Amino acid sequence: MSTVLITGANRGIGLELVKCYAARGDTVLACCRDPRAAGELTALPGAVETFALDVADAASVAALAEALGGRPVDILINNAGTLGPEYARQTAYEMDFDGWRQAFEVNTMGPVRMLHALVGNLRASAAPRLVTITSQMGALSLDMTLGFAYSATKAALNKFMKLAAIELGKEGINVCVIHPGWVQTDMGGAEADITPQESARGIVGTIDKLDAATNGSFWKWNGEPHDW
Ligand SMILES: NC(=O)c1ccc[n+]([C@@H]2O[C@H](COP(=O)([O-])OP(=O)(O)OC[C@H]3O[C@@H](n4cnc5c(N)ncnc54)[C@H](OP(=O)(O)O)[C@@H]3O)[C@@H](O)[C@H]2O)c1
Repeated sequence: MSTVLITGANRGIGLELVKCYAARGDTVLACCRDPRAAGELTALPGAVETFALDVADAASVAALAEALGGRPVDILINNAGTLGPEYARQTAYEMDFDGWRQAFEVNTMGPVRMLHALVGNLRASAAPRLVTITSQMGALSLDMTLGFAYSATKAALNKFMKLAAIELGKEGINVCVIHPGWVQTDMGGAEADITPQESARGIVGTIDKLDAATNGSFWKWNGEPHDW
């Protein structure tokens, strides 16, 4: 059984990931900004422990690390994310810079803060994995001309994790980024291609493939490789 830490665990893809791992019998450290408002999460059966965490707030991340102490974390899933400004305010001609800055804090720096704060917990695992939920919109190989700010946050995230895989892989921490599909969540909208359940099930199966041989992968939720 593994110990799996998930950010943004109160709704959307994060909540479904919690359900998948808890149903397998794993211990889930489910992190969200406001656990008191996370009724569905806190009512879940299984070994689900809830922690308060704002990934954009260094003090909040440090408090989580303090609460965990030296506890091993086998899989750290950076899932929390934001689209940033409304699409009309993140184009080639318009930019809400404050909104873009905040999206960088959550989407790009948040996962890095989490890695730095919890690398000791990963090192305490026999088979540590660092997984980050990215987006196809951050792939340099795909030109979707919407969400310029969001896409840039995910592109920067991808580059960081691609490099981090090289360094962390040397000490046995395997790293990947996963595009979850276009998913029916608050972010993806009702018209999206797949349900959060389909996405989460696929992501869990894909994470199972992460080892030294696949370290540094960019995958789709269904385990297919994604071009960088
Ligand atoms: N849905 C899609 O089609 C799609 C496509 C590609 C990639 N993604 C990526 O998949 C991941 C999950 O997306 P989703 O569709 O599940 O989105 P969602 O339904 O909008 O949920 C976003 C989650 O992130 C959390 N979050 C936002 N800012 C946070 C912060 N500063 N600290 C901690 N948690 C924070 C939210 O918590 P609150 O409830 O507190 O706001 C919520 O739990 C994101 O990284 C997203 O970029 C989604």
